[in-house]
Amino acid sequence: MATANFASVKNGGMDTFGKITEICLKYGGEESYLIQILLEIQNEFNWLPKEAMLRLQDELHVPLPRLYEIATFYKVFSLIPRGRNLIKVCTGTACHVRKAPVLINRVIQLLRIKPGETTDDLRFSLETVGCLGCCALGPVLLINSEYHSNPTTSQLEKLFSECL
Ligand code: FES
Repeated sequence: MATANFASVKNGGMDTFGKITEICLKYGGEESYLIQILLEIQNEFNWLPKEAMLRLQDELHVPLPRLYEIATFYKVFSLIPRGRNLIKVCTGTACHVRKAPVLINRVIQLLRIKPGETTDDLRFSLETVGCLGCCALGPVLLINSEYHSNPTTSQLEKLFSECL
């Protein structure tokens, strides 16, 4: 499971703190845009690193507990490292009876992580979710925003190989 620190979130020598300042400036440093700012930071890093939150505290003059209050209230935010590609396997009732556990095991075998974990290279995160709203296709797996109906192991291998 990934335990990345902030420095490894971005590579290529990019100024990560500079990026946070840039995002804050885009919103005029206004606390009223805090959720949009947090969303942009998460889009940039795939999660909300502690160092980013500390920087945000300085940029917006918002107390750290308030930042964490918001980041933990909304499910969309992650305070642990997340991969660049999010794999969601539906475990809703319809998918479950159509052998979702078999599909999950295929994914676990290929990615070598369990639901709730992220690969060490931060390429993939795996989650199980409730009904995705397309039960007739079950069992369903979502790779980022693409739905896949009961992919075989070889289909999964191909799909995962296409994820950068
Ligand atoms: S139960 Fe899986 S899509 Fe509905």
